[in-house]
Amino acid sequence: MSFPTNFLWGGASAANQYEGGYNEGGKGLACADLISGGSHTTSRQITKTVKEDLLYPSHEATDFYHHYKEDIALFAEAGFKAFRLSINWSRIFPTGMDQAPNEEGLQFYDNVFDECKKYGIEPVVTIAHFDVPAYLSEHYDGWSSREVIDFYTHYAATIFDRYQDKVKYWITFNEINTATLTIGNFLSLGLQVGEATFIDQPDDPQRRYQALHHQFVASAKVVKLAREKYPQFHMGCMISYMPRYPYTCHPNDVLLAKQEENMHSKFCGDVQVTGKYPYYAKSYFEQQGIEIKFAEGDAEILAEGTVDYYTFSYYLTLCVSADPEVEKNGHSMIGGSGVNNPYLEQTEWNAMIDPVGLRITLNDIYDRYQLPMMIVENGIGVSEDLTENGEVHDSYRIDYLQKHIAEMEKALADGVDLFGYTIWSAVDIVSASTGEMKKRYGLIFVDKYDDGTGSLNRYKKDSFYWYKQLIATNGESLLEK
Ligand code: BG6
Repeated sequence: MSFPTNFLWGGASAANQYEGGYNEGGKGLACADLISGGSHTTSRQITKTVKEDLLYPSHEATDFYHHYKEDIALFAEAGFKAFRLSINWSRIFPTGMDQAPNEEGLQFYDNVFDECKKYGIEPVVTIAHFDVPAYLSEHYDGWSSREVIDFYTHYAATIFDRYQDKVKYWITFNEINTATLTIGNFLSLGLQVGEATFIDQPDDPQRRYQALHHQFVASAKVVKLAREKYPQFHMGCMISYMPRYPYTCHPNDVLLAKQEENMHSKFCGDVQVTGKYPYYAKSYFEQQGIEIKFAEGDAEILAEGTVDYYTFSYYLTLCVSADPEVEKNGHSMIGGSGVNNPYLEQTEWNAMIDPVGLRITLNDIYDRYQLPMMIVENGIGVSEDLTENGEVHDSYRIDYLQKHIAEMEKALADGVDLFGYTIWSAVDIVSASTGEMKKRYGLIFVDKYDDGTGSLNRYKKDSFYWYKQLIATNGESLLEK
């Protein structure tokens, strides 16, 4: 096997899905704190204030806020080299536009980073993971307003200054390309763009893409700041990468697959890595009648604030057909379009499982940018139960991870520069899209359920032990399966 020495094996999380303590330690409300739980089939509700009779999954989540020592000790036991987490913006700036930060919030992450350091675990920190303070949503329509750029840069400057000796790896926005999705408003509008209160309005691509432009500018500004002041930092983008396969070799299917993959999976990385909008996006916007307003200096900022490593999430691939008849009969979890790929199996939540697609993706991205890469999310969501002995026999997860990691190894042999991998998720946490606990991704089971009950006790799944062995052998144990 050929994983580099010092490969960053680890696990990932996000504050609004994991942390809880939503009104403790001076934290303000985030958009996520106003979105109730849903399920596989029922949708979630957005409220303007917290309602007594509704359950909001982010409020307690799986309570990292009170369990961080226990959880980080478990990560150390598994041999994690890296832990990806996000900082909760409204824990640092309760309204998002306060001048002075909330000291108690800053102290919480100091404690977390110190705990990581104790075990030699490298934190990989996302500045905004589906996380906008509710105040900014209500008063500014979230990222639709240009003013939010300054609030974000103030927030980023504050945490850079505070944690400059504790954190080296930063990611400016989680899955910034979520804003290109025309469906899944909870993710794209509610959580990513922070327009929670406007969710019931019809989709407005003009607004969505303008909000995304503001995020590009904000990202570039903080990358530039980091480069000038903190040369020890590594600044990365994060893309939800979903490759599109043509359903047949008909040129129209091939063309459609390329066009969709460009606008969904490549566009944002192109902007953040190359520092300018790619040609195909310009023509797409023209065709769609979308006009992105660049303020004076935006083009220069984008060019100066390009990232120095590329991270992405990888869960599935999609398959598309240009034939409306085929599309009509197809179904797919994401994007409202797409057909089933007859060569692939699906998860319970209809995600097509495709380990080889990961090797293809790694090669594609590396070919395009030649930047160091890290896979910061990869995993499988399953409804699962504890046995009477407090065990979870998740052989399906081991199988999923084993096959994906084997393809990473092949991609390394192909010559790509991959330096880390954090499984989604280290611990069971709330699902971002549905708000369910039932859809579990963790290596560690948390006794917590959709109705809000549960002791919050932690239990190691079989996959925990499997991953521990894999890390201990730096990937060699893959061969044993
Ligand atoms: C990514 C997000 O989209 O996928 C995570 O960055 C999310 O926040 C993960 O949890 C899995 O998606 P879901 O909706 O199943 O939780």
